[in-house]
Amino acid sequence: MISAKENRRLTDVTRGAAAGFVLRSYWQPAALTEELTPECPIVPVTLLGEELVLFRTEDGGYGLLGRHCPHRGADLCFARRENGGLRCTFHGWLFDAEGRCLEQPAEPADSRFHEKLKHKAYPCQARNGIVFAYLGDGDPPPLPEHDCLEAPDSHTFAFKGLWECNWLQALEVGIDPAHASFLHRFFEDENPEDSYGKQFRSGAAGTEVPLTKILREYDRPKISTEDTDYGFRLVTTREIGDDTVHYRITNLVFPNAIAIPMSDEMTITQWHVPIDNRNCYWYSIFTSFGEAVDRELMRAQRLQEHTLPEYRPLKNKSNNYGFDLDEQRRKTYTGMGMDINVHDQWAVESLGPIQDRTQEHLGQSDIGIKRYRRLLKKAIEAESTEGLPFRPATGRRLNMRGPVAIDVLGSASDGECWKRQDLTRRKHTGWAKDPWQEDRWQKELPGAD
Ligand code: FES
Ligand SMILES: [Fe+2]
Repeated sequence: MISAKENRRLTDVTRGAAAGFVLRSYWQPAALTEELTPECPIVPVTLLGEELVLFRTEDGGYGLLGRHCPHRGADLCFARRENGGLRCTFHGWLFDAEGRCLEQPAEPADSRFHEKLKHKAYPCQARNGIVFAYLGDGDPPPLPEHDCLEAPDSHTFAFKGLWECNWLQALEVGIDPAHASFLHRFFEDENPEDSYGKQFRSGAAGTEVPLTKILREYDRPKISTEDTDYGFRLVTTREIGDDTVHYRITNLVFPNAIAIPMSDEMTITQWHVPIDNRNCYWYSIFTSFGEAVDRELMRAQRLQEHTLPEYRPLKNKSNNYGFDLDEQRRKTYTGMGMDINVHDQWAVESLGPIQDRTQEHLGQSDIGIKRYRRLLKKAIEAESTEGLPFRPATGRRLNMRGPVAIDVLGSASDGECWKRQDLTRRKHTGWAKDPWQEDRWQKELPGAD
């Protein structure tokens, strides 16, 4: 339980607000690359409460400008793409991707008024299906070397979905490992061969036991957290027999992402990105440590659940998330179908547009949520980008590799079995870097802190 004032401080991401400063100090997903096509090269983007326009430049890059023209406020989503920038269709002012005003054709020919103008502009870079933007002050940090960003394009698939609630409650469901035994409970296990592209269906690495069975039958996990250079790791264990433990390794990637296992071969890195204080998008990169992903199939699966262009889930509050009482009795815990994204969406939206945390009662199983809020408070109190935790550009050497996200069945006395299992699959990829080697390098390097 926290005070109303503290709740506002942690959830408000508008420009000038404390949490808004923190989120702006890291690269944030602004759009999927698939949203910008030759037929649609300019799209509106609302990010952290700011109305923006994202466009492809003629040289294949991206520009992100304030949506409203600084002359009289016309909508630049209807601009013409010219000279690597946008020309407003109201009076023809031309802006480049850095926000410089290059031309004001209706002004006197010798006017230098345009030189005094600087329109809002943010740097962007695209990686593995997502256009990332940096809305912070100063130079952006480098993109971290996380698996989802290092993997070849062929081994990743990116998608997004709209949730109508504040970003913090959306993130907090991802660092709450206990909920999976209830919210995502299936009363029957699926044939793992039908599980491609679905979460919680295939077994833990090195076993045939379906994860749905483990989650269903062992609902009182032990959860611990460990500090890392990118945030923290959650180690969730379920004792499922004589000396057999299910280890589930998930991660909080500061400030607003999680990295979790999806199947034996795949992981999901998911950012919870504020549109404004009452709406957010989850952006996910699915990363395969095995074969190249079947992107067509994965996209088709998700388009069965979402409508474009908003990526709004078909099941939502307006239709009770497809709730079916008979299904709840016989098939799933929620009665809201087999897609776990819908379960999570119901859970986080049902807390209200901005959860009232003055009324909650956190238990021991909420250790991840408590830890995250302490981190966010620490970051808010840092007040400058130099003082922020987990930001490579601050000069501190940070191990931003991995993170390891995996499900493994192993011995109770072998608490590191998941590291070995992860290293084995990493070696087979040819591209995945060894996060532990980097860790050793960092510790051994003189001057590293
Ligand atoms: S409003 Fe854009 S040029 Fe006048
Ligand atoms: Fe969930």
